[in-house]
Amino acid sequence: MGEATPIPIRLTGLTALRWAWRFARDPLMTTCRTLDVFGPFVMLSDALPFTPPLTKPHRVVLLGVPLVLTAGAEFHRELLSDTATWRGVSLLPGGPRNSAARRISLGLTRTTGGRHAHYRKLLACPLRKASVNALIEDMARLAEAEVESWPAGESINLWEYARRLMRRFAVELLFGGNSEQGYLIADLLSQLMEGKWGPSAFLLPINLPITSYGRIVRKSELLERHLLEWAGSKRGRVDVRDLASIIVNSPDADGDPQDDAAIVGQIPSLFAAAFEAGQSALTWTLILLMQHPRIMAEVFDELSMQVGTASPSLNRAGDLPFLDAVVKEAMRILPPVPLQIRVAQYDTTIATHSTPKGTRVILNALLTSRMSEVFPEGDVFRPERWFKIAPTVFEFPVFSGGPHSCPGYCFGLSAVKVALAAILTRYRMALPAGVRIDYMVQPTLRPLDSIPVFLHRQDGAFASMPISGKIRNLVRFPQ
Ligand code: HEM
Repeated sequence: MGEATPIPIRLTGLTALRWAWRFARDPLMTTCRTLDVFGPFVMLSDALPFTPPLTKPHRVVLLGVPLVLTAGAEFHRELLSDTATWRGVSLLPGGPRNSAARRISLGLTRTTGGRHAHYRKLLACPLRKASVNALIEDMARLAEAEVESWPAGESINLWEYARRLMRRFAVELLFGGNSEQGYLIADLLSQLMEGKWGPSAFLLPINLPITSYGRIVRKSELLERHLLEWAGSKRGRVDVRDLASIIVNSPDADGDPQDDAAIVGQIPSLFAAAFEAGQSALTWTLILLMQHPRIMAEVFDELSMQVGTASPSLNRAGDLPFLDAVVKEAMRILPPVPLQIRVAQYDTTIATHSTPKGTRVILNALLTSRMSEVFPEGDVFRPERWFKIAPTVFEFPVFSGGPHSCPGYCFGLSAVKVALAAILTRYRMALPAGVRIDYMVQPTLRPLDSIPVFLHRQDGAFASMPISGKIRNLVRFPQ
C-alpha cells in the first residue's frame, strides 16, 4: 500500500448486497475479486451477511453498518493493535440468550482488557518455546504411534487422518493426557465448528430439533455437561502441563475462585484452537507437497539425512531449515485462518476514514500474505523465498499480531513439522488423478469434501497428479 493513506471504495444498495452475498458464499474468491476490481479497501454499506434477522429481530438495527473488506499489512497493524476499539469474534457458534451455545462461545478472542491479560498470562508459561521444546520427545512418540497405525497400501481421507493426529497432540500434550472425555470434548468441538459455519445454520438460524442450528444448540448443551464434569475432575489437582487444569485451579481476573461460567466460557475455544488450525495446516501442506514433486523430494532428502528413515528421530524435525521454510510457505499461501473478523465497539476510523460502531472488518491473511512487495508471485508455492525474507507479523499475519496474536504458535509449528516428519519418512502419499479439491472457510480453511490419498510405503517416486476444483483459483500449480 505504500505511504499514501488508502481511500475506501464505497459500494451501496444492490451492488453492496450482491458483493456481500458473493462474500457469504465464497469469502476468499470474492475478496480476491474485490481486490482486483476495487482495490484493498472496500466498504459494503447496507450489507448484512453476519446477522440474518430471522431469529434476532433486535439485530435489524445493524442495517446500514458497513462490512469492510481489507487486504494489506497496514490494516492488520491498525486494527489488531487497538483491541479497545476492535473486538474479535468467537470461533464457536454463539446462540440464543441463556443457551449453552452462547455460554461456551466467549473465549479469548472475544475477551478484552484485564480479563484478557489475565488468561493470556496463565497460558504464557505452558505455551512458550522452552515448554514446547520439552514436549517434543513426547510429541514425536505420539506421532510415530499414530502414523504407524495408518493403513499402508490403502486410501485414506487425508483431512480425517490429519484431524486425528492433531487432536491427539492437543488432548495428550496440552489437555491432561489420554482421556476418553478429552477426546469426546474435542470431537464435539469439531462438530460445533462445522455446524456454525455450515451454510444451513448460517442461512436458517432457527432453533428446532430438525434444523442444523437447533442441533448446534443441543450439541452445545452436551458439550457443556461433559466439560463441567471433566473440569470438575481437575479441581484441586494442578497439572502445569494441562491448560484446562491451569485455568480451573487459578483464581479468576478478580482473584476469586474460577466459577463454572468462566470455565465454560474460556476452555472450549482454547481447546478447539489447539488442534483445528494445525489440522488445516497439515492437510494443505501435504497437498501442496504432493503437487510439487521437486519440493517434496528436497524435503524428503533433508529428512532422510537429518532424522533418518528406518528409525527416525522426529524430535529433530523442529530444527530443519527446509522443512521450516516449507511449513511457513504452505501457511502463507493457504493460511489455516485466512480471515479475521473485527467489530467496531465505537464510532471510529479506519485509515482515517470514519466508520460507525458495529462495522465488521475482514482482515484478509490470505491476500496480505501475497502482497507483491514482500512476496513476489504470491500464488506460487516457493519455500526458498523464506531464506531471503523476514516479514513482520502484520505482513505475514498467519498467527495474527498484537495483543490477541496466537499464543500457541510454537506448539502449532512444532506439531505440523513433527507430523510431517512422521508421515513423510514412512509414506509416499498420492492423490488420485483428476481429484476435485474445493475449499471452505469454517473458520479454518478446510477441504469441502474428503480428500482421498493413497498411502504407498515411502519409495521417493514423487509425481504430481492432474487435479481440478476451486483450489486451483488460489494456487498456481506447476504445469
Ligand atoms: C498452525 C497452528 C495455528 C495457527 C495457524 C493459529 C492461528 C491463529 C490465529 C490467526 C489467531 C487469531 C484469531 C483471531 O484473532 O481472530 C489465533 C488465536 C489463538 N490461538 Fe492459534 N493458531 C495455531 C495453533 C494454536 C495452538 C496450538 C493453540 C494452543 C492452545 C492456539 C491457541 C490460540 C488462542 C488461545 C487464540 C486466541 C488468542 C487471543 O485472542 O488472545 N493456537 N491463532
